[in-house]
Amino acid sequence: MYILGIETSCDETAASVIKTDEKQRHFSVLSNIISSQIEIHKKYGGVVPEVAAREHVLNILPVVHEALAKAKIKPKQIKAISVTKGPGLITSLMTGIETARALAFAWQKPIIEVNHISGHIHANFINPTSPIKFPVMILTVSGGHTNLVLMNRNHKIKIVGETRDDAAGEAYDKGAKMMGLGYPGGPAVAKYAAEYKKNRPKISDSPLDFPRPMINSADLDFSFSGLKTSLLYKLQKDKVWKRRIPEYCYEFQQAIIDILISKTIKAARKHEAKTVMLSGGVSANDELRAQLDMAVKAKLDKAEFLVPAKEYTTDNAAMIAAAAAFSLKGMANFKKLKVNASLQLK
Ligand code: KG4
Ligand code: ZN
Repeated sequence: MYILGIETSCDETAASVIKTDEKQRHFSVLSNIISSQIEIHKKYGGVVPEVAAREHVLNILPVVHEALAKAKIKPKQIKAISVTKGPGLITSLMTGIETARALAFAWQKPIIEVNHISGHIHANFINPTSPIKFPVMILTVSGGHTNLVLMNRNHKIKIVGETRDDAAGEAYDKGAKMMGLGYPGGPAVAKYAAEYKKNRPKISDSPLDFPRPMINSADLDFSFSGLKTSLLYKLQKDKVWKRRIPEYCYEFQQAIIDILISKTIKAARKHEAKTVMLSGGVSANDELRAQLDMAVKAKLDKAEFLVPAKEYTTDNAAMIAAAAAFSLKGMANFKKLKVNASLQLK
């Protein structure tokens, strides 16, 4: 069966068609179209909600059209339309939701509303290399979210830890803004950090000892605002920081990664996870991918590590359609026009 996915929660207008087999055990992504607004928001240093919503209105129908055309699928072949229902920017979400509703009415198809975080998590279920073992501990790290979620074999999910202030991606974005590195900050910080890693001196003249807030707290929660403030104070005190940007990026990123890995390993141990997954925009980060993989291998007995292909890490609609495919599994009455099949968070 074919499922159309629509995602407009922030600044990407995205549509995708995925194909699942009858038992919905395997998906193939037939199209994954993303119209990014990064160039537009760059000059403001972040996403401007009103501007994002207006761009979504302009882009959504061409993007849906392209997703269908690339997949070579006609609307009548689609089984359901899935759309991100939140969390996200309300005016951005509305464009996707109202488009999905209009298309569902015109084409007489059911709508499946998908939670955005559930979408990110399900990016890991697109073409997995081996059968997934449950329970799964998932670290979702994006511009708006940082949480640890436990998933059982029925894909019921429960948040076991979350950030008390900023998200990890937000820390990257705000840190990058302080150093004048533009928006989005994650890829820019990662690039400078990788550059510094290659020529890193064994001993630094003035080491940048960033704090790792809450790393030893008994719970599974995160906090990144103190780290951000620490960067601000260090930059204010350092007259030559502009010459040390790669070093700042490297140390700042490593502090974020250390916190994320420490809490994820602790959560996986506590809940006896057989698989550890990474998801969300920050999961595009090569250092985080590599270091978490190593930590899982070194510190957890027999747990496997999974991370989505890079194209499914930042916001996309294939992950929304993949989450919808699982929502449909075992659904008694598939003919209902409107189905609130989003996975339960909390
Ligand atoms: O999942 P996403 O596309 O949107 C939200 O749901 O928020 O995540 C966007 C976030 C931004 O904060 C961006 O800076 C971060 O993901 N990001 C990265 C990288 N690529 C994107 N952070 C670190 N390293 C990257 N390579
Ligand atoms: Zn996202």
